[in-house]
Amino acid sequence: MLALAWATLAALTLSVQAGTKLWDGSFNTYASAADFDKWSWANQVGAYQWYIHGSQATSRYLAVSSDYKNPAMSTESRGIKMTIDGTSNWNGQTMERTELIPQTSTNIGTGNLFYHFSVKRTNTNAPDSSMEHQVCFFESHFTELKYGVGSNPKNLVWMVGGVEKWSTSFTADTWFNFAYDINFSSSTVGLWASTGSSPLTKVVQNIAASTSTNSADWHLGVLRLITNQTPEDWYFSGVYVENGPITTAIGSGSSGGGGNSTTTTTAAPTTTPTTSSTTTSANGPAQSQWGQCGGNGWAGPTACASPYTCIAVSPPYYYQCQ
Ligand SMILES: *[C@@H]1O[C@H](CO)[C@@H](O)[C@H](O)[C@H]1NC(C)=O
Ligand SMILES: *[C@@H]1O[C@H](CO)[C@@H](O)[C@H](O)[C@H]1NC(C)=O
Repeated sequence: MLALAWATLAALTLSVQAGTKLWDGSFNTYASAADFDKWSWANQVGAYQWYIHGSQATSRYLAVSSDYKNPAMSTESRGIKMTIDGTSNWNGQTMERTELIPQTSTNIGTGNLFYHFSVKRTNTNAPDSSMEHQVCFFESHFTELKYGVGSNPKNLVWMVGGVEKWSTSFTADTWFNFAYDINFSSSTVGLWASTGSSPLTKVVQNIAASTSTNSADWHLGVLRLITNQTPEDWYFSGVYVENGPITTAIGSGSSGGGGNSTTTTTAAPTTTPTTSSTTTSANGPAQSQWGQCGGNGWAGPTACASPYTCIAVSPPYYYQCQ
């Protein structure tokens, strides 16, 4: 009787709290690193675009395992280890990058959406706090996490438009759960956070931001501005985007396969390296809004399409058309 009552209560609670998942970034359909290589501009399959990485084999940068997920995520079979090292320069840039981009035809840039992910480090190949890291960012950098910056470089720092709004000590072997609370209608963003299996709580109320995405410019992973080339491992799991109301429980939001539907991929827009926005374009007459237009090692366009101008976002490493 009591058990039944609890079960009913739990079901009610879940049905009240669950949002609609718009894009599922779980790694349940990725049995090995080789599955990421099935994606290409000509064959846009799976849950992720995989092209922002160094010159070596994918297995050097990505590994999936049940050991790499937040154990609280009972519906997920795997998490991912993302590695950056001295070979991780992408597209002639001096910064090092290992990043996955959502592959979806769904508009994940409208209304009030929640971008969920969990991140962890260990003491093996630990991130070096003497270098700036940009983590889980949008191309325009309207919101992101950073590591290795600010008054305490050992903190994970949540930023809005490059300004610190919240931070927490990035301790080893702890899963940090986040959801970016983005209202694209009112151009505001807030932050939900927790650790381990604890439900998310809102830690920063929504504040004004230049919210925008073309639904293919959220970067799951890490960009490092280098001063040395030591390898680093970053772990991620619990990745999905949902419509409100937010799912605060850890592990319940990513249920149900997803991510490997051919119907989704056949309906995908005809994105190519040259027509897609931003840092994806290596060369061209003029860079589009939010695209890179300069920085150490940058070999791509330095002129911006009208009416945008090239802004020093992270000089001398990164300049962007805004
Ligand atoms: C998707 O599923 C197919 C068929 O089961 C499989 O061959 C393929 O590797 C999967 N793709 C990804 C990206 O996991
Ligand atoms: C998002 O912003 C719109 C426009 O200001 C507002 O009507 C809506 O209530 C907001 N959504 C939430 C969940 O706050």
